Amino acid sequence: MLTYLYVFTAKKVYLLFNYEKMKLNSVKELLNSDKYLQEVHVKGWVRTFRSNRFVALNDGSTIKNIQCVVNFENIKEDTLKRITTGAAVSVKGTLVESLGKGQTVEVQVSDLEILGDSNPDEYPIQPKKHSFEFLRENAHLRVRTNTFSAVMRVRSALSFAVHQYFQKNGFFYVNTPIITGSDAEGAGEMFKVTSFEHNEAPLNEDKKIDYTKDFFGKETNLTVSGQLEAETYAMGLGKVYTFGPTFRAENSNTTRHLAEFWMIEPEVAFNDLDANMDLSEDFIKDVLQYVLDNCKDDLEFLDNRLTQEEKTKPQAERSDMSLLDKLHFVVDNNFKRVSYTEAFDILRNCKPNKKKKFQYPINEWGVDLQSEHERFLVEKHFKCPVILFDYPANIKAFYMRLNEDGKTVRAMDVLFPGIGEMVGGSQREERLDVLKEKMKALGIEEEELWWYLDTRKFGTAVHSGFGLGFERLVLFTTGMTNIRDVIPFPRTPQNADF
Ligand code: 4AD
Ligand code: MG
Repeated sequence: MLTYLYVFTAKKVYLLFNYEKMKLNSVKELLNSDKYLQEVHVKGWVRTFRSNRFVALNDGSTIKNIQCVVNFENIKEDTLKRITTGAAVSVKGTLVESLGKGQTVEVQVSDLEILGDSNPDEYPIQPKKHSFEFLRENAHLRVRTNTFSAVMRVRSALSFAVHQYFQKNGFFYVNTPIITGSDAEGAGEMFKVTSFEHNEAPLNEDKKIDYTKDFFGKETNLTVSGQLEAETYAMGLGKVYTFGPTFRAENSNTTRHLAEFWMIEPEVAFNDLDANMDLSEDFIKDVLQYVLDNCKDDLEFLDNRLTQEEKTKPQAERSDMSLLDKLHFVVDNNFKRVSYTEAFDILRNCKPNKKKKFQYPINEWGVDLQSEHERFLVEKHFKCPVILFDYPANIKAFYMRLNEDGKTVRAMDVLFPGIGEMVGGSQREERLDVLKEKMKALGIEEEELWWYLDTRKFGTAVHSGFGLGFERLVLFTTGMTNIRDVIPFPRTPQNADF
């Protein structure tokens, strides 16, 4: 008995002594712990405070909250009043088995300190359902909701999985420039970078802006793609990838376009288009499997959210697959590979085209496919991800390899249900003369891309790569519907808040 008392007292003294220095526990750690009756210390934000007794605390480490049960005797009346939704608090107490519904453990609070108050009359994120429009206006606080914290944790996991995939497969990570003088895609959708004051730019003899006097001595812009620079690195390092921000000044106010988005661009020497298609499929499946294995709680929550959202839609528009079904479906099935010409035939003869239901009718070979066509192929016709390849040369960028037919190029787009284009890529034109001719026809100056042409002059080789829009991948993985909701602070036309 005496020994027991001694050990008990010694433990208390030890704990008291170490209380201040106690390691901070994360909510995730505590919820997964079975070490009952331990003293714990956790900090987070109050989600709800019920019956003046139950604090649902979240610290971002997991979608789940930990219940902290306040003990009136230890907590001052004044402190109790300050436990409001959104407040930051520090909680010390004992981890115990919970008898309540919905959790296995809870914290019996012995000490609660308010770290930061949150005035309930002003705090916009109340414990109720908010519209995504409202939350976009409060993008600085929306990560404190279940949906956005889940999306952002999945985004982080995906981004880790991207690096892991390439690193384990012998790729090197290359950081291509954000400020560049070239327009890789030739679409002219670029944001200018200049240090000239507006309206005070010096003019040359032709009354045009004299960029030789600008910061870089030439016209520069924010990059639309790191591809051209990545190609030069693939021709030395073999297998490379970029993962960085890209910028497009296209005025597309859709749920799939951002003016600033993150792109992943692998580039591989000696890969032809088939190998490029294999890589894109293997890569996407691998990163999706990673989140299926590592983001179970978040995916389960997002799966539920989507199911609820689907229920609000008319029967005909509802998806018959849950989010988890869709992810498993992609991982477990082969992507369908179809040439542009085959797809064109399917589209020309399909019901919506014949009944003039498409906004852009399909009648002549060579037309660019719009999102409505891509989605028809993927969602209605093939009902699986599709890789379209061998597109007409005149709707694709200058750097794609010309086929023997002289009218198609070795391009590929990976199309996904609900998203449309997830990936755009190609085998690159490695023949100097053909490339020069192509550039000439499109009015691209050789002097502008002399360094790019050098790769074709010195040790040129077959090579391929693709670009995957990271936010579109996050969109698909999380089952969200608007690309603005899968990047912390979206940049879109008329919107650069925060
Ligand atoms: O098809 P894109 O324009 O291809 C390229 O930029 C090539 N240089 C890539 C390469 O071969 N290395 O863009 C690639 C992908 C698209 O498939 C799409 O997923 C995404 O980037 N993307 C956008 N994502 C969000 N907002 C936008 N405005 C996007 N534009 C393209
Ligand atoms: Mg594209």
